[in-house]
Amino acid sequence: MSSPDADFMPLDGWDHIELFVGNAKQAAFFYEHAFGFNRVAYAGPETGSRDRASYVVEQGDIRLVLTSGLRSDSDVVQFVSRHGDAARDVALQVPDAAAAYEQAVARGAVGVRKPHWLEDEHGRVELATIRTYGDNVHTFVARGAYNGPFLPGYVAPSHNGHRDTGVGLLAIDHVVGNVELGRMNEWVEFYERVFGMTNIIHFGDDQIQTEYSALMSKVMASGNGKIKFPINEPAEGKRKSQIDEYLEFSEGPGVQHIALQTTDIVRTIETLKERGIGFLDTPSTYFDEVEGRVGEIEESYDDLARLGILADRDDDGYLLQIFTKTAQDRPTLFFEVIERHGATTFGEGNFKALFESIEREQALRGNL
Ligand code: FE2
Repeated sequence: MSSPDADFMPLDGWDHIELFVGNAKQAAFFYEHAFGFNRVAYAGPETGSRDRASYVVEQGDIRLVLTSGLRSDSDVVQFVSRHGDAARDVALQVPDAAAAYEQAVARGAVGVRKPHWLEDEHGRVELATIRTYGDNVHTFVARGAYNGPFLPGYVAPSHNGHRDTGVGLLAIDHVVGNVELGRMNEWVEFYERVFGMTNIIHFGDDQIQTEYSALMSKVMASGNGKIKFPINEPAEGKRKSQIDEYLEFSEGPGVQHIALQTTDIVRTIETLKERGIGFLDTPSTYFDEVEGRVGEIEESYDDLARLGILADRDDDGYLLQIFTKTAQDRPTLFFEVIERHGATTFGEGNFKALFESIEREQALRGNL
């Protein structure tokens, strides 16, 4: 289903996701000590960055940048004041950032930062940034042969006494956006037109519905399948949907969840739980029926039930997945851990069980 036009916007993969947060120094500790990331780069006042501090953490091929502003008039502080700790930039690796920017803007994207080169003793990187939904952006990163710790301007951090062995997280699988009621198709069309992506999966509210809430979702994918952007919008339900709650507390659209791949989800989730990461509970009734629905898998269903890991099967294979509780006090961004055994979809068979679990959390917050 790859688009014949996709060649105008070649995407080599994910580069990094930058989160704007209230206190990046402390957030870095959370991603290191709880999630198993390692700190690889830093930029801040000591390195000539006057208005912000950024900590870069990595695990496998996953790179997160945690940034906070240092003064009330900082763009970062104003973003966090409005949206809370949230993903700001889903940055994509491209062969040519200027070409990507020019194609995007010619196709109607709004430019945020024109193509520019950054340089230091490790080489040169070209960057350019466009807007997407809400206050979010995509930066195009052409890193060529750059061999510094992250980008020019960042330095390898002085050792902070923590060298993590990781919890088995390997790569970003997909990044999901929540947009306002009635605007999903506008953003689907944006990713088709600007990025040459195609809509590979569509769920209507008839498929994603619980007693209380419903949502609609379309999954956009790059021609090479490396980048996948599901986009959700709320649908009319009896009460406030989880998407409505997100939009209220995020004060607009934004990234709902970031899915991270592992190849040993049982060990990954055992370790994350030991380190204090909270996951959505799965009703025990779910595990009464899952084996009949999904069939034979390499893992033990007892392990899945013990840890609350969900399973689903599609035409190409099966997948295992679990969702964290929200990663900050606002009920907005959360993470998914996913292990794919051939399956190329997103766990549609689990949506109903999952949403009922999210609604129990919403009810505890008084938002259902
Ligand atoms: Fe997901």
